Amino acid sequence: MKKNNKNKIYLKPIKSVDIKKTNYIKWLKDKEVIKYLYRQELFKPFKNKDIVKYVQKLEKSKNDYFYFIKINKTNIGTVKIGHIDWYSRTGDLGIMIGEKEYWNKGYATKVIKLVCKHSKRKLKLRKLVAGTPSLNVGMVKAFKKNKFKLEGNRKKQLLIFNKYIDHILFGKII
Ligand SMILES: CC(C)(COP(=O)(O)OP(=O)(O)OC[C@H]1O[C@@H](n2cnc3c(N)ncnc32)[C@H](O)[C@@H]1OP(=O)(O)O)[C@@H](O)C(=O)NCCC(=O)NCCS
Repeated sequence: MKKNNKNKIYLKPIKSVDIKKTNYIKWLKDKEVIKYLYRQELFKPFKNKDIVKYVQKLEKSKNDYFYFIKINKTNIGTVKIGHIDWYSRTGDLGIMIGEKEYWNKGYATKVIKLVCKHSKRKLKLRKLVAGTPSLNVGMVKAFKKNKFKLEGNRKKQLLIFNKYIDHILFGKII
């Protein structure tokens, strides 16, 4: 748990049974929130039950951890440590701040720090990786501020709004 002034930031495992009581599905329907997630299925109409199934799958998985980011009692977004390779002790990190009024206030930067600590101390991971479209300036900055190193740039790898965009790959030994 981390303090940000008087606001406590922490992670809470997401339970699929609780999804419909939260804003999670609302966030996934917000085109501005999902524009750089690179999940094409979210741009077409989708059924809420398919989202619940997606969360159920993560909940059962032995190689993925999926959390709500909480400020005091409010869910502001999600963070996933996914595709964990327990042999090499690596995982990949994905963040979505769904509540847009919390953008640009340093929360992603703080959450990355928190996830690095948690991954090292609790999950005993050794390294985290992450990828983001180059257009996602806030995400690129938040990783750099946490001393993630540039591990690659897949030039014009992603197709976003009819343009080919670089996929920036980051990694950090934690
Ligand atoms: C991308 C995202 C995680 C950034 O979160 P955030 O909490 O706003 O980021 P921070 O406040 O920690 O910002 C880090 C830096 O980026 C800057 N920044 C944030 N959003 C920015 C934007 N849209 N454009 C330019 N700079 C931005 C901040 O000003 C800060 O810079 P500074 O250190 O020079 O002051 C958040 O906007 C988000 O969840 N978006 C939707 C989902 C998403 O895109 N997830 C990532 C998929 S790869």
